[in-house]
Amino acid sequence: MPTLAVYPGSFDPLTNGHVDIILRGARLFDRIIVSILVNAEKSPLFTMDERVEITRAVFKDQPKVEVDTFDGLLVDYVERRKAQVIVRGLRAVSDFEFEFQLALMNQRLNAQIQTVFIMPAKQYTYISSRLIKEVVSLGGRVHGLVPEIVEARLRDKILARQA
Ligand code: PNS
Repeated sequence: MPTLAVYPGSFDPLTNGHVDIILRGARLFDRIIVSILVNAEKSPLFTMDERVEITRAVFKDQPKVEVDTFDGLLVDYVERRKAQVIVRGLRAVSDFEFEFQLALMNQRLNAQIQTVFIMPAKQYTYISSRLIKEVVSLGGRVHGLVPEIVEARLRDKILARQA
């Protein structure tokens, strides 16, 4: 049976750390669904449609990568999609405590679903969507830390704000 994995998250915005995890997941599993959580934050920088469009554009040449959105309990969505695995990235020890809680709660909610942690390449271990937004909003450069399409869209957002 093919192994289908779900990689859930807010992806506001998608970073090169996320891209690295997704490509590693695509090598491990038959298919990986990048599943963007609806309404994770009250005022996200990118709308859901923008996040879906950006992620689809980045992975347009990767047939094993699918992009979808979800709402409600993650384990219910994973079951609906007939996936067996939840993928989460681990960057540093500081991620571990929250990820450990999330994985064990999901395990309790549905013991059939297995969480698999993937470490990104070390040059991405300090990147987070939150830091990217902060640096860009203060005029800093994030070249090489996010896909080019994200960098361009971030620039557009900043210019629109300043106009
Ligand atoms: O990118 P993020 O914000 O770290 O992703 C967090 C996410 C989306 C994986 C988590 O908030 C989640 O799974 N939300 C869905 C609601 C749910 O199932 N909550 C209980 C998990 S223990």
